[in-house]
Amino acid sequence: GDDLVVLGIETSCDDTAASVVRSNGEILSQVVSSQADLLAQYGGVAPKMAEEAHLRVIDQVVQEALDKANLTEKDLSAVAVTIGPGLSLCLRVGVRKARKIAGSFNLPIIGVHHMEAHALVARLIERELQFPFMALLISGGHNLLILASDLGQYIQLGTTIDDAIGEAYDKTAKWLGLDMRRSGGPAVEELAREGDAESVKFSIPMKQYKDCNFSYAGLKTQVRLAIESRNINAGIPISSASFQDRSSRADIAASFQRVAVLHLEERCERAIEWALKLEPSIKHLVVSGGVASNQYVRARLDQVVQKNNLQLVCPPPSLCTDNGVMVAWTGIEHFRMGRFDPPPSASEPEDSL
Ligand code: KG4
Ligand code: ZN
Repeated sequence: GDDLVVLGIETSCDDTAASVVRSNGEILSQVVSSQADLLAQYGGVAPKMAEEAHLRVIDQVVQEALDKANLTEKDLSAVAVTIGPGLSLCLRVGVRKARKIAGSFNLPIIGVHHMEAHALVARLIERELQFPFMALLISGGHNLLILASDLGQYIQLGTTIDDAIGEAYDKTAKWLGLDMRRSGGPAVEELAREGDAESVKFSIPMKQYKDCNFSYAGLKTQVRLAIESRNINAGIPISSASFQDRSSRADIAASFQRVAVLHLEERCERAIEWALKLEPSIKHLVVSGGVASNQYVRARLDQVVQKNNLQLVCPPPSLCTDNGVMVAWTGIEHFRMGRFDPPPSASEPEDSL
């Protein structure tokens, strides 16, 4: 029948996440263990260290997801796991765990694409959301505009030619000396509320290119130079983050955010035009990925979408940032269509991946 219960495992970057989801859309559990403390200490993700952190918690995270759902492995219909894109050392921790469970309990296994999961989770929270639809996926590593024609059929309308918007938020937070115990995005968003977004003149990336691609490396450099020149004027070391008063840092945060998001708005506007020519029945733009949890980003994109008579679908923040729910749900979508791998042999040696 169609009553499926799927465990989803996500270890592609710095969060270890697991979740159990039912095919009727019920989220039975959601567990995330973040490496935020490690990140703050070292100022970035080091693959080997991230792998070790995943290894330390993976068993516990999965067990907790099952316990909170009040289930054991025997109750599952299948196991879904992120197989890419991401750090391969990290991905393998999740894949090994998924294959171990699937092998021991004779369960089918579904390999999930991380970005597809960010997009499809919107269909869990908005059951009205039918193909075709558009999606803007914005995270630390990716900046994608896609047209989703059908399950597994995606046309890429635009991608970043260098950095993703989340990377620009993270570096801006670091150079402004903001608290890095969590990721930089929320810290910049918070500080930006106090600032004057028109005070620092950053230029909008790629204005002259009439396509749907993104670039955030140049804006990152503009922000760094703005901070450095203020340090020079204040007579303190050029790369010091301890300069200026809070209000002038807030001005930089707000001005950065305005231009970073204007770039998204402009590209979405054009992508909608392109996509409607290909698929006139499109009614929705999905915005997902970590940066989509930003309230300013949501509000601005909502304006663009409304102007074009479309609807914005934006998952709640806990489903925008990396999570196991989106992996389990994407697994369900594929499993329903008969797309899965048979249970791995239980005797498979652990290091065969
Ligand atoms: O999707 P995600 O959790 O992981 C990746 O697949 O990369 O996205 C993480 C990114 C980070 O760059 C983080 O700073 C950004 O999402 N982010 C935000 C906010 N919350 C998370 N950026 C701006 N504003 C936020 N509120
Ligand atoms: Zn992600």
